[in-house]
Amino acid sequence: MGRVAELAGVSVRTLHHYDDIGLVRPSARTTAGYRAYTPADVERLREVLAYRRLGFGLREIADLVDDPATDAVAHLRRLRGLLLDQRDRAAAMVTAIDRELEARKLGIHTTPEDQLKVFGAQLYDTIGSAYPATRRTEPRIAAQVWDALGDARTVLNVGAGTGSYEPPDRDVTAVEPSAVMRAQRPAGSAPCVAASAENLPFADQSFDAAMAFSTVHHWQDPIAGLREMRRVARRVVVFTHDDSDTGWLKRFWLTRDYLPEVANLVVGRPSVDRLAHVIEARIEPVLIPWDCADGFFEAYWRRPEAYLDEHVRRAISVWTRVGPEAERRAVDELRDDLSSGRWTERNRELLGLGAAELGLRLLVA
Ligand SMILES: C[S@@+](CC[C@H](N)C(=O)[O-])C[C@H]1O[C@@H](n2cnc3c(N)ncnc32)[C@H](O)[C@@H]1O
Repeated sequence: MGRVAELAGVSVRTLHHYDDIGLVRPSARTTAGYRAYTPADVERLREVLAYRRLGFGLREIADLVDDPATDAVAHLRRLRGLLLDQRDRAAAMVTAIDRELEARKLGIHTTPEDQLKVFGAQLYDTIGSAYPATRRTEPRIAAQVWDALGDARTVLNVGAGTGSYEPPDRDVTAVEPSAVMRAQRPAGSAPCVAASAENLPFADQSFDAAMAFSTVHHWQDPIAGLREMRRVARRVVVFTHDDSDTGWLKRFWLTRDYLPEVANLVVGRPSVDRLAHVIEARIEPVLIPWDCADGFFEAYWRRPEAYLDEHVRRAISVWTRVGPEAERRAVDELRDDLSSGRWTERNRELLGLGAAELGLRLLVA
């Protein structure tokens, strides 16, 4: 124990505490009868200490390291992403402080907004590590996107995340601002540049096509981002949600009966017609198959029990954005209605459908 404490830079008391609460136990014994850490115990200790240093609480850490779905490599990838994120944020804060010092020297006072901006976390740096659990390629939707890319050989994927919709048979370059998401891209995936849609670091017309999948609603300035895609590529393909058609909020039982707060999240977003107009795109509807493999917000329209699963919800930004109170209430009500049969009574007609139209659109320009 003493040797491990010394190597890890923590006190023996800390190790005793982790042992007492069952977080990391030295599971072996030396020939002299002393308790000792096996290589597996040390691996677990390394994960615990790294999450601790990132500011997680011991209870949260216990859930993380005990999750059977996360192996050592997945933990390393997640930790790497979180650490890069911390580094990026610290660098951004240093730059902002330097700017303010410079401004003060010149007698200029920064606005309160400017002073606070530096602390604003990127949403996907906060929730991104939960993403890969349920977010993956839905082959039928991917086929529609890849078809729209036509004969493009070079493709820029903007807001690429973990790369679920990158066509395997083309030369892809990815753009993704979140360090956590970049760190979770599978080994061997397309090269990924840290940048945002609004400011693409590429020359005019340098790609045959640019695509953006399920990301435009996260951009600070969707119009500027689409103009950038248009600038760097001959063809543009965007998969997004038609938020101006608020009809889907009523058609989808989850928003209609349990989570009406979603309506507040879409207020002020540009309509799909406006987005299409900016890039002169045609609009195609995208149907969601009943067994959709990609766990986005509407994906489980015929599998309501899925929304009771914390892993499913954590991989969908809407659930974080509505806040914990609305989430708790919606999940409790849905659970009750599922067990009483009320959900089935209300939504019986869905059970016979193979695909649903819930406002998803493909813009092709
Ligand atoms: C719902 S995820 C979609 C990821 C990926 N396209 C997919 O389908 O799996 C949204 C992504 O948009 C990224 N994003 C947020 N703001 C962005 C911006 N201004 N420019 C480009 N990407 C952005 C997020 O970091 C996140 O990875």
